[in-house]
Amino acid sequence: MKNILITGGAGFIGSHVVRLFVNEYKDRQIFNLDKLTYAGNLENLTDIENKSNYTFIKGDIVDGSFIDEIFEKYNFDTVIHLAAESHVDRSITNPLEFIHTNIVGTVNLLNASKKQWDGSFTDKLFYHISTDEVYGSLDDGGFFFENTPYDPQSPYSASKASSDHFVRAYQNTFGLPVIISNCSNNYGPNQFPEKLIPLFINNILHEKSLPVYGKGENVRDWLYVVDHAKAIHTIFQKGKVGETYNIGGFNEWKNLDLIKVLCKVVDEKIGNSPGTSEKLITYVKDRAGHDLRYAIDANKIMNELGWEPSLQFEEGIGKTVDWYLENKEWLERVTSGTYLDYYKEQYQNRK
Ligand code: NAD
Ligand code: TYD
Repeated sequence: MKNILITGGAGFIGSHVVRLFVNEYKDRQIFNLDKLTYAGNLENLTDIENKSNYTFIKGDIVDGSFIDEIFEKYNFDTVIHLAAESHVDRSITNPLEFIHTNIVGTVNLLNASKKQWDGSFTDKLFYHISTDEVYGSLDDGGFFFENTPYDPQSPYSASKASSDHFVRAYQNTFGLPVIISNCSNNYGPNQFPEKLIPLFINNILHEKSLPVYGKGENVRDWLYVVDHAKAIHTIFQKGKVGETYNIGGFNEWKNLDLIKVLCKVVDEKIGNSPGTSEKLITYVKDRAGHDLRYAIDANKIMNELGWEPSLQFEEGIGKTVDWYLENKEWLERVTSGTYLDYYKEQYQNRK
């Protein structure tokens, strides 16, 4: 029986990946290693937590000896590494946390894999999940390709770029079998309401202002989270060791346009009269160093591995809003306590 380690499986994307692997691979043990930070929530996985091929391990990837111990105990064949600090605004407030988790944590996992596999790499894989933000910021034209030079602009993207470089260095230096994928912005169920879409849904439900950074002209390329999980599964099955794959939905939106669509969809679903939520839009001080535009060219994964997004954006946004409306208790629970302190700190100086 093969043992697959997924890190960060209690988080937004990780929980969708864990669910997919647990349901798909009944003959393999799926281990979910997660520290359960503010962003990790085992409630995301209640539907699969009792399956016999699923094991949760609570732990910190920054703790190297703990990581060595669990590798020795469970002898993982595959690592799918998602655990990270993931929010740009938090990286501006506290960059060191990002260096610890995203860089040191990744190197601990690389070291443990190298030690455990000890030069015998048949059927082994270290698959590192990264972001398009490592490529920097685009102006109006062009796309990020797999060979676009790295040019990270925020402490978050600098820490992810660094971890990507370490992953490649371990392949080049020690022959570790690695794959990296770089995905565009995800949206969908279970995303912590600090990121744009769930934050704005939560604020609309509480009739709070919608804080648009700058003029709302920044552009992001949005992919439904289940389609990202499916892309990760496709790469796990068919990806070539040593390769990088860009993942995206060819779905660019200017923030303000996206926010207006979101307001309209929520208004329709909760029975508000048209235009109600748009009135909550408030322009606030821009994010420091705010990347203007991200856009992924996803032709490689589409042409070589046959993956494609399954959902159009309108359908994805509808499903996302439905999930938050059906899971108001989840939203209430994750936004109590320390979330309120975070919100105050992030937004009180932006007025
Ligand atoms: P998230 O913040 O929702 O979840 C991160 C998870 O990692 C949480 O469960 C958290 O508890 C866990 N974690 C954090 N620090 C840890 C530590 N030291 N040890 C063990 N576990 C720890 O993040 P997400 O949005 O699901 O992103 C997952 C991965 O995908 C990240 O590597 C991120 O860089 C990448 N990514 C995210 C997006 C996006 O739009 N969200 C896009 C592309 C790539
Ligand atoms: P976010 O969801 O934080 O993702 P990222 O910064 O990784 O792309 O932000 C998406 C876009 O929305 C980004 O251009 C910043 C903007 N934004 C706001 O205008 N207001 C907000 O309160 C937040 C959280 C983001």
